[in-house]
Amino acid sequence: MSLKNLYLKTIGCQMNVYDSDQIANKLKPLGYRMTTAWENADLIIANTCTIREKAEQKAFSFLGRLASLKRKRPDIIIGIGGCLAQQEGKKILERMPQIDLVFGTHAISRLPQIISRLESQRFRLVDIEMSETIDEFEPVVDLQAHQKVTSFVTIMQGCDNYCTYCVVPYVRGRETSRDPDSIVSEIKSLVNSGVSEVTLLGQNVNSYGKKEGLCSFSNLLSILNRIDGLKRIRFTTSHPKDLSFDLINSFDNLNKLCHHIHLPLQSGANRILKRMHRKYSIELYLKKIEELRKLCPDIAITSDIIAGFPGETESDFKETIDVIKEVEFDGLYAFMYSDRPNALSIRFPGKISEPVKQARLQRILDVQEQFTLKKNMMLVGSTELVLVEGVSKKQSGAEALPENQDLELTGRTFTNKIVNFNCGNSRAGCGKEILGKNYIGKMVNIRIEKAFSHSLRGTLVKKNQSILV
Ligand code: 5AD
Ligand code: SF4
Repeated sequence: MSLKNLYLKTIGCQMNVYDSDQIANKLKPLGYRMTTAWENADLIIANTCTIREKAEQKAFSFLGRLASLKRKRPDIIIGIGGCLAQQEGKKILERMPQIDLVFGTHAISRLPQIISRLESQRFRLVDIEMSETIDEFEPVVDLQAHQKVTSFVTIMQGCDNYCTYCVVPYVRGRETSRDPDSIVSEIKSLVNSGVSEVTLLGQNVNSYGKKEGLCSFSNLLSILNRIDGLKRIRFTTSHPKDLSFDLINSFDNLNKLCHHIHLPLQSGANRILKRMHRKYSIELYLKKIEELRKLCPDIAITSDIIAGFPGETESDFKETIDVIKEVEFDGLYAFMYSDRPNALSIRFPGKISEPVKQARLQRILDVQEQFTLKKNMMLVGSTELVLVEGVSKKQSGAEALPENQDLELTGRTFTNKIVNFNCGNSRAGCGKEILGKNYIGKMVNIRIEKAFSHSLRGTLVKKNQSILV
C-alpha cells in the first residue's frame, strides 16, 4: 500500500477536533498520513462548522482558496465534512466545482469506503444520511508524534433542545448517548497511551443517558473517576435547566473532576430566555451558581452570551450586563446573534442592526474584562497544581530554542487557567520536546507570580526535593 498525504483542516468546536481525529484514524488503513502542507496533499478534508455565520464564512473562504490548487492538480481529492456539509449538502457541489465530496456529521464511519471508491473512479458524491444510532470509533492514540497529554472524548451526539437560535439539532441530529462501557474502554486506551486528562464532550452532558436509560451523567463521572492512571476529568457543555444537584455534588465528591464548569447563560433577561426556548429563568440560573459555589468554593465558572437576539431591547440588554456583574464569571464567550438556516429565530421580528449588535458585544467584553483579570489576580501568590501540556504558545513555533533561552512550558490549573512557566533547561539548539519531556504530561506545583487576562505566569516549586508531583 502506498503512503498518501492527508491535509485536514478543522474549523469550529471541540467536537470537530474529536471528529477530525476520528477521520484521520479511519483513513490510516488506506495509507493516509497527515501533512501540514496542502500543496503536497493527495486528499484535503475540511471539517466544518456552521454554528454562527462567521464559522460558515471561514469554511467557505478556506474552500474558495482550494479552487486554484484543484485547477493545478486535478488529481487531488477535496472533501468537505461536518456541520456545514450536513446543512448545505449538494448545494456545495453546485456552488464549488473544486469539491469532490460532501459528507455529513454521521458519515465518518463510511469514509474509508467512500474515499476508496473516489480513488479508483472519479465522480462527485454527497453523503449526508443521518442515523438514530451513534457510531462507535476506535480510540485514537497515536496521531501526534509527541505525547498527547489531554484528549477529547465525545460521550453523546446531537441535541433535542431546539433553542430557537441554534442550528445544532438540524446538523447533528437527535441526542444519542454512547454506552458507558465503550466510553470507559476508550478512556482506558487513551490513558495507556499516555493521556492524563480527558474532556467529555456533548451538547448537553447533563442529560447523558436519559433517553437510552443508561446511567446518569454523575454516575458516569464516578465510574470514570475510578480509572487508574487518569488524573483529571473535564466536561462541556452543561445546560442550566438540567444541571442536577448530583452533578453539583460531584465537584465536591470526585477528586479527579476539575473545578470548572461552562454554563451558557445566553441572556440575562427572562423575556429573551423565553424567546430562546432556554427553559430556565435567571432566578434558577443564579440559584445553580450559588449551589455550585457553596459546594465547591473555588470553582471557575465560564459562560456564553449572545448579543442582539431578535427583539432584545436596551433594557433586556442591561439585565444581561447586570447578571454578568452579579455572577463575576471567570471567563465569557460572547457572540453577535446571527440568523442560522432552519433555526426558528430566523423568522422572529425585531432583528437588531449590525452596529447595535457590535456595540452590545463590545460592552459585554469590556464589562467582563475586569472580572477575568480579577479572578486571575486572586491566584497570585498561591501555589497551583498544574498538568503540563507542552511547550508554551510563544515558543511552539520554532524547532529549536535560541541560545541561552529557557524552555517555557504551559499547562492548566485544576480550575482551567492557563499557566506558563520556565523550566530552566537552557541548551541552545536542542529540540524543545526533548528538553520538556521530563515535565510534559506530569503534574507540577507552580507558584503564581503574575496574572494577565488570558493566562498566568509562575515558577516551579520544589517539594521534598522533587518538582514533579
Ligand atoms: N448566533 C450567535 N451565537 C450563537 N450561538 C449558537 N447559535 C448562535 C447564533 N445563531 C452561540 C451560543 C452557544 C455557542 C456555542 O454559540 O452562545 O452557546
Ligand atoms: Fe444548540 Fe440549545 Fe442544543 Fe446547545 S442546547 S446545542 S444551544 S439547541
